[in-house]
Parts: sequence; structure tokens; C-alpha cells
Amino acid sequence: MGRYAQIIGWGKSVPNHVLTNEDLARIVNTSDEWIRTHTGIRQRYIATDPRETTATLAIKAAQEALRVADVPASRLDMIIVATASPEHIFPSTASLVQDAIGATRAGAFDLSAACSGFVYALSVARGLIVSGSAEYVLVIGSETLSRLVDWSDRSTCVLFGDGAGAVLLAASEVPGGILSTVLGSDGSGGNLLIVPAGGSRMPACLETVASGMHYLKMNGREVFRFATRVMARAAQEVAEQAGLTMDEVDLLIPHQANRRIIESAMKQLKLDESRVFINIDRYGNTSAASIPIALCEAIEEGRIKQNDHLILVGFGGGLTWGAAAVQWSVPLPLPETPWWRAAQRSGSFHMAQMRSLGRRALRRLQGITVRSEEGNGRQPQPILEESLQKLRAHLWKVKTSKEEATSSEEKTT
Ligand SMILES: CC(C)(COP(=O)(O)OP(=O)(O)OC[C@H]1O[C@@H](n2cnc3c(N)ncnc32)[C@H](O)[C@@H]1OP(=O)(O)O)[C@@H](O)C(=O)NCCC(=O)NCCS
Repeated sequence: MGRYAQIIGWGKSVPNHVLTNEDLARIVNTSDEWIRTHTGIRQRYIATDPRETTATLAIKAAQEALRVADVPASRLDMIIVATASPEHIFPSTASLVQDAIGATRAGAFDLSAACSGFVYALSVARGLIVSGSAEYVLVIGSETLSRLVDWSDRSTCVLFGDGAGAVLLAASEVPGGILSTVLGSDGSGGNLLIVPAGGSRMPACLETVASGMHYLKMNGREVFRFATRVMARAAQEVAEQAGLTMDEVDLLIPHQANRRIIESAMKQLKLDESRVFINIDRYGNTSAASIPIALCEAIEEGRIKQNDHLILVGFGGGLTWGAAAVQWSVPLPLPETPWWRAAQRSGSFHMAQMRSLGRRALRRLQGITVRSEEGNGRQPQPILEESLQKLRAHLWKVKTSKEEATSSEEKTT
């Protein structure tokens, strides 16, 4: 019996704040006309609230994907967050998601492949499932690139937006799901799209901040040339690997970086707009989140039906590229979820929050038990350890007095 990795849940999340091209024209020397004609972007969502982060967006998208699939977080085996703007260098954003949604059995890690990250993560998740190592894998693309963008650099700040998208993959005996994947990298072009400082090569310091090296830097023209070369090629390759001709592809869901790049791929692949999903006008480039957000919107708009063949294709920093061929298996539209089921699911997320708070409180309590006794020259002694020692001494006393009593009883008899 074959084993397949099927997409059974999906969800997206974007910040509330919409930044239009007109808004941008008030910040840098640009215009709505320039941005629309050069990129196809009209607006993007930006996480202006500092409480809104890559992790919080990822958590919302993940919860939605679990709700759609009606699978409890406790059944997840692995969580992969593809991101170029992780919450921290470590811990991984995936571990924060794992804790927040209550995925108590799941492993978690971040995947760094810039805008190709989501397709890379799909490929890894498929491998885990097909090899029998996992039953359920949550794949998330989440970004707050607005935090890495230099808001005085008009050549980059107009391009990016924030958001997250997630899919839940499940092991299935039903043929279909992720049929094939193609991944590639050309590290010789790493400098074309880079955040130079903040890593181990150039740790963050006053100079790196003063010279703006902690911001995203891009050679737009070179990245453009690279993208128009690899997008169509990767899509073609992945279709061939899945045994599909381009005529059999129902919908291409490309990474939304620039409308002109997408149009170039459409031309090379001889696909018209009815078979390509484009939403860059409303989101801008959300990096690793762009493909899952587009997938969710394509579902919402009724552009996908059961047994459709999809191709997801991305490219980005690294340089990297990736494509996945998918046979869609879930009947759409989904039936309405009964209210009590939805309530049950959101109740389980509240429980996860309580559990996380409980674990944090317990850890703090254990930490507080360290009492400084430096004044009298002794090493700090954990109170718990001290209590344990007292308990042990007491038990020892009880034991020896019992033994004494027995031996004196034996003597008298
Ligand atoms: C960034 C990009 C939109 C620039 O478009 P372009 O047509 O290549 O524009 P150029 O870089 O050739 O610049 C043309 C002019 O527009 C100017 N310009 C750049 N950004 C501008 C802006 N936001 N508003 C107005 N003018 C702008 C440039 O300064 C340049 O002016 P100059 O000729 O006086 O020097 C395009 O190169 C691109 O999309 N590249 C790929 C980026 C990408 O996909 N990155 C993410 C990968 S995941």
C-alpha cells in the first residue's frame, strides 16, 4: 500500500495594518504609479504593533489550519516554520508555535531558505511522511520582513509585506497529495539578497547598526534576471517528475515577488491568467508566506477543486528555488463546522495557553528556589534540595528508630 502526503488543512493570517502605495509615497521618494507598473503591488499588510511578530502570525495561521482539518495539535509529529525573519536566532519560531498551540508530541524546527522556504519545508514534510517517520506535519511560512527593511530605501521598502500561511500534511493511503518536489540553490549569488549583519559573520554592534548593515540589501535587477530564469524551469521540471504536462496543470501558484516575474513565467510556460493565481497587488512580497497565503486565497475564491493538479513554485535569497506538484484531494468547499466543534477546538488552544503558563510558572518556582547564602561562605543551596535532604534525614530517623524498636522487641522475646 502506497503512502502519500496529503494537504488536509490550511490557514493564513496577516496583520491588521494596511500600508498603501500612497502611504509609502509619503515616506520615501516613490509613487503609486511607479510601484504598480514596476511590481504590480497596490498595498501590503505591515505588523506595526510590536506585539505582532513572526511567531504570533504563525500561531494564528497554524490554529486555522488545525481547525480546517479538525485535527488536535496533540497529534502533530513535526512543526516546520519556514522564515527569513525568525523571532530570534534561537529558540526557533517553530518551538514557540509548538508551545502556543499545545503540540505536546511534536518536534519543531525553523527552515531557512528565504522566499523558497515554504516549498523546501513542504518537501521535507513530504519526506517525513512518505518514509513513515511522521503522520501529521504542520508546515508554516511566516514573515515580518518589515522589521528587516530599511524604510528609507525606496528600492526595497515598497516590495515587502508581512503575513503567515500554514498547511497541515497528513499521511494517507489515497494516491495524490504532494506528487514531486524540485529544490535548488546557487550560493554564488548569496550577496544579491542579504541581511549582512546580525549573524555570526558580522555580529550586531553599534557600527553595524550605524551603517545599516542589519537591513535587507538587494540587487533588484540581478534577482529579477535570476527569477525569470528559474521560475519556469523549476515548474516545468516538477511537472515532468510528477508525470504531468503543463496542459494538465490546473493552477500555478507562484511566489508573489513581482507581477512582471510571474508574467514572464506564464509566457515561458504558455499559461494564461485563468490558470495562474496572483494576489501580489494586495499583499506585496511576503517571502516564505506568499505561497501558502496565495493557496488559501485560491481555495477561498473557489479556484481549486478536488483532483486538480497544482504547481507551487518559489525563488529567493540563497539564491534558492523550489517547486512542488500537488494533486488536491480534499473536496471543496468544505462543509460548515458545527459551532460546538469550533468551540471545542478554540477551547483546546486556550488550554494550551494555560498549560504553557503553568509550565513557565513551575520553571520560575524551581528557579526561585536558589537562595544565596554567600554571606556565610556556603555555596547557594536550592531550597528544594535542602527540603529533600531534611526529608531524607527524617525518613532515615524513622527507619532507624523502627529498626531499634524491632531489635529491642526481638531481645525481650
Ligand atoms: C526591485 C525592482 C522592482 C526594480 O525594478 P526595475 O525595473 O528593475 O528598476 P531599476 O532597479 O532598474 O531602477 C529603475 C529606476 O527606478 C528607481 N527606483 C527604484 N525603486 C523605486 C521606487 N520605489 N520608486 C521610484 N523609483 C524607484 C531606481 O532608482 C532607478 O532610477 P535611476 O534609473 O535613476 O537609477 C525589480 O528589479 C525587481 O522586482 N527585482 C526582483 C526583486 C525581488 O523579486 N526580490 C525578492 C526575491 S524573493
